[in-house]
Amino acid sequence: MLRIGIVGWGFMGKMHFRCYKSDINVEVTAICDADAKQLQNSSGVAGNISGAEDDLDLSNIALYSDLSKMLAEEKLDALSIASPTFLHASQTMEALNAGVHVFCEKPMALNSGDCREMAEVAKQSGKTLQIGHCIRFWPEYVQAKEIIDSQKYGKVLAATFQRLSLTPTWSWDNCFLDGKRSGGAMLDLHIHDTDYVQYVFGMPKEVFSRGVIGPSGEFDHTVTQYFYGNDCVITAEGGWIMAPGFGFEMSFKIMLEKVTLVYSSAQEPTFRIFPIDGETIIPEIPTGDGYSFEIQHFVDTLSGKAVPSIITPEQSGDSVKIIEAEKESIRNNDKISLL
Ligand SMILES: NC(=O)c1ccc[n+]([C@@H]2O[C@H](COP(=O)([O-])OP(=O)(O)OC[C@H]3O[C@@H](n4cnc5c(N)ncnc54)[C@H](O)[C@@H]3O)[C@@H](O)[C@H]2O)c1
Repeated sequence: MLRIGIVGWGFMGKMHFRCYKSDINVEVTAICDADAKQLQNSSGVAGNISGAEDDLDLSNIALYSDLSKMLAEEKLDALSIASPTFLHASQTMEALNAGVHVFCEKPMALNSGDCREMAEVAKQSGKTLQIGHCIRFWPEYVQAKEIIDSQKYGKVLAATFQRLSLTPTWSWDNCFLDGKRSGGAMLDLHIHDTDYVQYVFGMPKEVFSRGVIGPSGEFDHTVTQYFYGNDCVITAEGGWIMAPGFGFEMSFKIMLEKVTLVYSSAQEPTFRIFPIDGETIIPEIPTGDGYSFEIQHFVDTLSGKAVPSIITPEQSGDSVKIIEAEKESIRNNDKISLL
């Protein structure tokens, strides 16, 4: 039985709890949150995607307000970090140095220097570090990558990814809207698509971005173009300056030589394949979401059933590095090289 601790009992902490609960070989034995009020709340949290709102029974779980104390007392095998982004680097390294495997929410850290240090500490400690880039595990995105990799519909000519949200006013201490602690919408939200672009197409050679400063004081809406030294056109648009009534939508359109792949979280069916010739195909999508599948992968890695091949700490740090280049591109109004 793997003993798991969770730090940060907000939207994502409860999401992680729900995911671990579905594996009988795993037990969440301890939860830490610095804010006592948060630990009294076991339901009804806000977020863009549903799934964390069940009533949760914490009666057999040790509750802490201090992570160091929890690590010292609880003999954990692994720690799930779902605290605000500015804490990811220090909490990850503390846990790894205490001999505990770490699953840490995305973005890996506020800057790529911290990411490099985290990856190095993971290597030195011999412990697993997985960053929560859940889109690599999201069923429709998984299928799109499989289709692209199979080359059965030819090569990708163009692809566009979108992730648009109302302004997140719901986080603890309004952290999301403090760019210094969240990195703003580019590091917090748009990074999901940046990371997926990196996953599918590799590290871009250059990026060019435009952006709008928003309520976080950082760039809170962007359109970015990713360059690969060929004529494939890849863009991603993301941000959280949509009006409240819009809610949230993640989507993509991928134009291959023989089909167009279209996904939208706001449509039913969510995923359609439009062939150049022939009828529209509605593929079967496995039930479950990227959160469950990424945590299952983490648990399988710890128990030796999987190798950590889908996401590495270095790739997660590279996604932060690309976001830094995107922000620099906006500031300089110029392409930025990543070579
Ligand atoms: N993968 C995704 O799709 C996704 C979605 C939402 C958020 N996130 C990420 O997850 C992280 C948390 O986001 P959230 O929406 O759950 O935020 P939240 O505001 O709902 O929860 C954060 C929790 O951390 C606690 N906390 C603050 N300081 C702490 C400390 N020093 N020690 C312990 N706990 C502390 C707060 O009290 C709060 O309960 C962020 O990094 C965010 O970017 C990822």
